[in-house]
Amino acid sequence: MKKKSHYQAEIAGTGIYLPEKILTNADLEKTLDTSDEWIRTRTGIQERRIAQKDESSSTLGAHAAKNTLNAAGMTPDELDMIIVCTSTPDVLYPSTACFVQKNLGASKAAAYDISAVCSGFVFGLSIAEQYIKSGRYENVMVIGAEVNSRIMDWTDRKTCILFGDGAGAVIVKRVEKEEPIGILSSHIYSDGNHSDMLIVPGGIGREPVNREAVDNKMYCLKMAGQSTFKMAVKRMTEVSRECLEFNGLSTEDVDVVIPHQANRRIIETVSEKLNMSIDKFFINIHKYGNTSAASIPIALHEARESGRLESGALSLLTVLGAGITWGAAAIRW
Ligand code: UT7
Repeated sequence: MKKKSHYQAEIAGTGIYLPEKILTNADLEKTLDTSDEWIRTRTGIQERRIAQKDESSSTLGAHAAKNTLNAAGMTPDELDMIIVCTSTPDVLYPSTACFVQKNLGASKAAAYDISAVCSGFVFGLSIAEQYIKSGRYENVMVIGAEVNSRIMDWTDRKTCILFGDGAGAVIVKRVEKEEPIGILSSHIYSDGNHSDMLIVPGGIGREPVNREAVDNKMYCLKMAGQSTFKMAVKRMTEVSRECLEFNGLSTEDVDVVIPHQANRRIIETVSEKLNMSIDKFFINIHKYGNTSAASIPIALHEARESGRLESGALSLLTVLGAGITWGAAAIRW
């Protein structure tokens, strides 16, 4: 008997956009008490991109979205929904996604932002997966876009060396196929008990913009580095295992892990804990640093471009971000 086909969430296209301006570790040595050697050995980062004055999350995101539409051979009016995952929106409201929608001319798409910081893209992908698998929509664009450079304290060597700007996107498309394809499952979690671990404490509701808030750089990112590091290793390992078990898969089935690019040492420790070769992990942190919600879609696109995600390949996405939030997703190409 013919097996009943059902809706699946295939990735129809990927695309990225990075600002042209490069800030190297050597550049940072000129203004901070740091060294290229410390940054490379402690984080794996060599350089990061910095948005120009007239660029923002919506402009970077729109560039990535156009590249994704081209890759998928689709037009903007085919999009039913645009989800922008960002922690550095253009303005408080309206959502950055509405600016992207306008820029694309995607008149049919419901457009809104979600905020799960570095985990944003996996959270957004999870929302897209539900809309697609339920049959409600045909094409959902998920964009991760960040201008982290705007919320850095450029005098704090513990944080400003880590982050960069950029954008990446995917189109999640509804298909009817018998064999499992596309997003096999996504798993997302939050624990607000650790909300102070990585936080931009001011500039809005709790601490509105005022002279004192500006003087205390309350609009800048603050991070307890070591606790975040340990939490990232624990949660990314745990949720990766859960995602594979859920699908009846093992680490051996995975062709490429696309980890959040926060610190090369986090990625190496996760690979050890999962007992997986580091060669299976796609790493581009040396070029871009931590681009928060843009990190995974940029890595996903580059892994695909490098030929590592051919048809049939299995990729595992895994992430931890502020909130704290964490998640994983398995994608069959
Ligand atoms: O995307 C969300 C997730 N984010 C993360 O996962 C980030 C997680 N955390 C980390 O990646 C690491 O904790 C950091 C890279 C932020 C810091 O590395 P660490 O090995 O944990 O260093 P540390 O904070 O323990 O600092 C060690 C030393 C300190 O000096 P003393 O007190 O031992 O004299 C720091 O002041 O390194 C010093 N240090 C630096 N030295 C040169 C910290 N930052 C720098 C720097 N250059 N940029």
